[in-house]
Amino acid sequence: MNAAIRAVVRTALVNNMNVIGVMHGYEGLVNGEFRPMGARDVGGILQRGGTVLLTSRSKRFMEPSGQREAIRKMNEAGMDALIVIGGEGSMNGANALAQQGVKVIGIPGSIDNDIWGTNIAIGTDTAMNTIMDAVDKLRDTASSHQRAFLIETMGRNSGYLAVMAGIICGAEIVLIPETPVDQQEIAASVEDAYRRGKTHAIIINAEGSGIRTTDLATMIDEMDLGFKTRMTILGHIQRGGSPTAYDRLLASRMGVKAVEALVEGTHGVMTGLKGKGIDFIPLADVISNKRKVNMEYYHMVKVLAR
Ligand code: F6P
Repeated sequence: MNAAIRAVVRTALVNNMNVIGVMHGYEGLVNGEFRPMGARDVGGILQRGGTVLLTSRSKRFMEPSGQREAIRKMNEAGMDALIVIGGEGSMNGANALAQQGVKVIGIPGSIDNDIWGTNIAIGTDTAMNTIMDAVDKLRDTASSHQRAFLIETMGRNSGYLAVMAGIICGAEIVLIPETPVDQQEIAASVEDAYRRGKTHAIIINAEGSGIRTTDLATMIDEMDLGFKTRMTILGHIQRGGSPTAYDRLLASRMGVKAVEALVEGTHGVMTGLKGKGIDFIPLADVISNKRKVNMEYYHMVKVLAR
């Protein structure tokens, strides 16, 4: 997100706009927590995770009264437009403001990659690389000790990270919210992997799959399927760290495009990666569609686990 903030600030300055940073996300917008942003204020942030503007989950902004207050604070500060970087909730908020006449541009940022209208959101690639690094390390113990390793990935209600991790980390089984799998099926896959002579089994469980990772570990141990189990919940390490080259480039491109949209008079849209280019997708479409996990990738995990 910092790479996007940097790109927005510097592109806006080149286009003779003043830039005001909103602290703490929508909560800060409601409270009028603003700070002027110059070119030097975004120096040295490109390689940093998180956001220098800080963020929060705002309940007040979800209410019409909070949105009205935010618009009032924007007007008092002389803001003509707003660029919002964030996930599904942020895009919902951006659309709500757009409906009330605010010139808004959304930039998708979410490790979950559950935002409709873009092939990939800022942060997803960095999270995938973190998961890959972690699973590579865990596999060393898994193989040496012939264990089944259960690894829980984030993603809220989306199985995207888990499925991608399944492919790039060579998992035997992936559990995702989109396709419930019963415990017998999981047990059969683990036992089959053992029979086929595998030295380990990697099982990726998406946090929203409906099966708790601890319960899964207990079940596999109790059923005595060949492998002993260990589990790791990756948690918030997936959300931090220095962004990958891919994410820095994507964020920079989207930041530049967001300002270009405002310059050309386009608003009420989100920047979205389509093919090789960055398009503008109406926010109303973004929030009314649900991004689905590509099931081809899900099935690919099984084939590649042979
Ligand atoms: O939406 C991003 C995400 O990291 C999800 O994958 C996860 O469920 C959630 O946020 C964690 O939120 P919090 O940091 O508030 O616990």
